[in-house]
Amino acid sequence: MMRTEKVSSQAVQQALQTRSLVLPLEALERHVEGYFADRQRYLDIIALHPPPLYILQTQILEERCRQFQDAFRKVLPEVGFYFAVKSNNYPEVSRIVLEKGFGLDVSSGAELQMALYLEAQDIIFSGPGKTGPELVQAAVNADRTVVLVDSFHELDRLQEAASSVQRRVRAGVRVSIDPTGLWRKFGIRLEDLPAFQQKASTCDSIDLQGVQFHASWNLDPGRQVGFIEKLGRSLSAMPADFLQKLQFVDIGGGYWPSQGEWLQEAGTPAGMVLKAACAPVNSPMGHFWNAAQSIDSFAAQLAAAIRSHIFPVTDCRICLEPGRWICNDSMQLLLSVVDKKAADLAITDAGTNAVGWERFETDYFPVLNLTRPGMQENPCTLFGSLCTPHDVWGYSYWGTGLEEGDILLIPMQGAYTYSLRQDFIKPLPQVVTI
Ligand SMILES: Cc1ncc(COP(=O)(O)O)c(C=O)c1O
Repeated sequence: MMRTEKVSSQAVQQALQTRSLVLPLEALERHVEGYFADRQRYLDIIALHPPPLYILQTQILEERCRQFQDAFRKVLPEVGFYFAVKSNNYPEVSRIVLEKGFGLDVSSGAELQMALYLEAQDIIFSGPGKTGPELVQAAVNADRTVVLVDSFHELDRLQEAASSVQRRVRAGVRVSIDPTGLWRKFGIRLEDLPAFQQKASTCDSIDLQGVQFHASWNLDPGRQVGFIEKLGRSLSAMPADFLQKLQFVDIGGGYWPSQGEWLQEAGTPAGMVLKAACAPVNSPMGHFWNAAQSIDSFAAQLAAAIRSHIFPVTDCRICLEPGRWICNDSMQLLLSVVDKKAADLAITDAGTNAVGWERFETDYFPVLNLTRPGMQENPCTLFGSLCTPHDVWGYSYWGTGLEEGDILLIPMQGAYTYSLRQDFIKPLPQVVTI
């Protein structure tokens, strides 16, 4: 047997044997009840603005900003908060988080342009593959922008861009959390930090002031804590003059909202294997769950790691780049039923181009029938109106029934939905801010 076959059959067995937790009904019902309680408010908006619609709830967004800031300010002396614009690039979201004392973390010239338009005073520009014009744009706005350099070559290009506009640019360097596999894409290897610092010291238009890393999709802070320990070891071997000049360590984003990850069966390890094997994966009422830690718990463990491994080497400012945690709960999506084809099959006015990906095949979010509210969940495949059967919102709805014209609400659609929307077949939902 080829080694790959052996490894893959082991992996398949392991996935099939993984027992995924069932989403606790009380937690699910608590959420559904909460959104039904606001039902009239949503219906009043729909009366003025026809569906499909995104509703941005300012109060929720502000509350998440405050909770996140409180959690980290309680445990760390000096913290900078930068909202990751990529997670939701609706300008009003950035405007609100700016008002709450966040800076902006941008990853392209377009995002930087928006940040400048919103008069953000504290911007970090991170991400691989920054183009020449983007580096010039950052350099021209160097008073407000710190560039997080992604490679040695980008350092050369930033030097060139900055000197071409006669600016001195504040910079940090991104280090890769895993220099093997797909995460190689990001940043430089940790062991190359001394060489990078040496090269930066010869760039007269660059002031290297910080180090950044980012680890995504963390239900708990274990991976970030592990990397902070490694980073601390590497920093302790850096020259004293570099450490004296170090102004920030940026520990990135990647904090999962505390309700955890809610999955359809097809999103569980066993479901993914079954799907790949073309076996039926069909449990409309089966909802699964990966628990996440609270933001206070993230903050406490990250701060403990920083105190143990970073502060003995440098007492610099700690920066954070949360995206999902801040905006996830602040946007809800409203749709209407256009065609009820059977008791358990309906088509809505919008397609999943509104969120830009086939999210609901694997992720579970309750679909609430605001027109016929009820605390029972009924099996029913809810499709969008695109020309693909993957255009699905879910396999059930909450309510006492479902008819054409009914208004449906899908909550918690604020992260990696609006910014991924695609202009494809159906018009994009407008956003109403309340
Ligand atoms: C560099 C960087 N920072 C922050 C984030 C935001 O991550 P999250 O939305 O998971 O907090 C991302 C997301 O891809 C990122 O690439």
